[in-house]
Amino acid sequence: MTARTFAIIKPDAVEDGNVGDILSRYEHAKLRPVAMDQRTISPEFADRHYSEHVGRDYYPALRDFMTEGPLIAVVLEGEEAVARVRALNGATDPAKAAPGTIRADFAQSVRRNAVHASDSPETAASEIALWFPDL
Ligand code: TYD
Ligand code: MG
Repeated sequence: MTARTFAIIKPDAVEDGNVGDILSRYEHAKLRPVAMDQRTISPEFADRHYSEHVGRDYYPALRDFMTEGPLIAVVLEGEEAVARVRALNGATDPAKAAPGTIRADFAQSVRRNAVHASDSPETAASEIALWFPDL
């Protein structure tokens, strides 16, 4: 079923010049961008996006990372988009990510791991509404 999901090309990947390569992975899998924006987010916005992680021991460093520079926010549309973007991204920890996944190829560490993607259709809907309220 055609669906939409939300993804972020994180500040490390923008800094490293990997935006085009990462978007190509999605496009080659017939996952099309239907909204896309480069932004530098505030700590308060990071807290809203990562509300389930606020309070975890890793969260202060994660918030610093997500606000350190520009990122690319993108809504992707295609067949089974939520699960397929997660699969293309690979495991959270690049050391555990399957060969050929985005994180295996572009992530630096568990924290500086190149990409985000919504983890369920419900999360996708709420993240799209947060990042692209006019969509
Ligand atoms: P999580 O939702 O578990 O991973 P994913 O991005 O694969 O959905 O965690 C959100 C982000 O938090 C993750 O991309 C990187 C960061 N993080 C850490 O920095 N350290 C950690 O130990 C964990 C679990 C996550
Ligand atoms: Mg997650």
